Amino acid sequence: MKTKIEKCEGKLGILLPGLGAVATTLIAGVFAVRKGIALPIGSYTQMGSIRLGKRTENRNPKIKDFVPLANLKDIEFGAWDIFPDNAYESASKAGVLDQQQLDVLKSELSGVKPMKGVFDQHFVHNLDGHHVKSAPTKMDLAKALMKDIEQFKEEHHCSRLVMVWCASTEIYLQAGPVHQTLDAFEEGLRNNDPNIAPSMIYAYAALKSGIPYANGAPNLSCDFPAMVELARKMKNPIGGKDFKTGQTLMKTIIAPGLKARNLGINGWFSTNILGNRDGEVLDDPESFKTKEVSKLGSLDNILEPKLNPDLYHDLYHKIRINYYPPRGDNNESWDNIDIFGWLGYKMQIKINFLCRDSILAAPIVLDLALLLDLAKRSGMYGIQEWLSFFFKSPQSLPDLPPQHDLFRQLMKLENTLRHLQGENLITHLGLDYYEEL
Ligand SMILES: NC(=O)c1ccc[n+]([C@@H]2O[C@H](COP(=O)([O-])OP(=O)(O)OC[C@H]3O[C@@H](n4cnc5c(N)ncnc54)[C@H](O)[C@@H]3O)[C@@H](O)[C@H]2O)c1
Repeated sequence: MKTKIEKCEGKLGILLPGLGAVATTLIAGVFAVRKGIALPIGSYTQMGSIRLGKRTENRNPKIKDFVPLANLKDIEFGAWDIFPDNAYESASKAGVLDQQQLDVLKSELSGVKPMKGVFDQHFVHNLDGHHVKSAPTKMDLAKALMKDIEQFKEEHHCSRLVMVWCASTEIYLQAGPVHQTLDAFEEGLRNNDPNIAPSMIYAYAALKSGIPYANGAPNLSCDFPAMVELARKMKNPIGGKDFKTGQTLMKTIIAPGLKARNLGINGWFSTNILGNRDGEVLDDPESFKTKEVSKLGSLDNILEPKLNPDLYHDLYHKIRINYYPPRGDNNESWDNIDIFGWLGYKMQIKINFLCRDSILAAPIVLDLALLLDLAKRSGMYGIQEWLSFFFKSPQSLPDLPPQHDLFRQLMKLENTLRHLQGENLITHLGLDYYEEL
């Protein structure tokens, strides 16, 4: 049965804490596509299509024609940052897109000016911005963000909003007592509990304002019981963590293939260099630890060493990230994979990916914003596991392991969309063999 989905009338506001490399690459990209001077390559919602029914039916609509998504011409962007640069200035500094291309979009980009951020250097050691809010308590800061949200909605005549965290990676934190219930968390906000990070204050403000929230960085943000409770209470969809780009994207493409062929792996060494502000933040060991934990989980989950001990029990997985300014946003990664095949004979795979991080991340932010808005209009709330496809370290339901395998994630995403539109789910079972017997 088809799910009742509210129409997407009016404008969708995409609110971005963090107006750095990823956010400005997204905004400039959407403006360029709207002008008809570029294509939204890498975006599932804009370029992807979906098979419906039997292969013989030949029904393969584009995703954006299959489910009701906001049109790119109906999007407004809002942002917060701890530096006052507008999107044109920030994009020029980030150096992801050609200056010539940015100049064509200068008037639109200059119009996106960041609101003052909620920031605490304790959580991001390597940054020191002064375009920040001050208030006596964390609850007051959350209220100030809610006021920004309300004002933005009114000034930009938006009918709906979503928020996607695109700000820096915070230091590694594990959920503690203050994160267990909504009551404890709100008490913590009022008492300035030191375990409440700025990203949590943004997530709280979004959810309290009734808008969906996704976390593009590896820090907790909305990944703890109190925030899940609030999301469910306010009937808001949430998702995270950490956009799936670069080396981890490659890992979640290659590892399921090796596993599918029952090839063993006893070592996977990943190292990379990057020189953008994200790299500078990750140069701090405490922020790196957050990223490392996010990246390490994928192989174990895909390879399931407990089920396949002969193939993956002794796998040594090592990840290094090195800040190297000359490369800017153009990350380069090297993977050495030690594998073994028939009778244990050893082989090696080397991957050298000359990647552009923000070019891979920007379309993910767009897809998440559009799909979270769809989820909200479809009455879906809480953790949206069907959006795991977009995340390095997918937030999963309590007591369930996350799904990292890109192809299983895609199947879940596609089947969720089919389910929403009352189409048969596709299992790829070849029933026709049986019919002939
Ligand atoms: N680039 C990628 O491919 C990629 C992939 C996965 C995840 N991410 C994550 O996305 C985030 C953004 O990446 P980026 O390359 O754009 O980084 P960036 O450093 O270029 O941009 C982050 C921006 O956030 C701002 N900021 C920091 N703390 C803030 C706060 N509390 N409130 C408001 N603004 C704040 C910074 O001033 C900066 O302008 C990072 O956490 C990164 O780890 C990026």
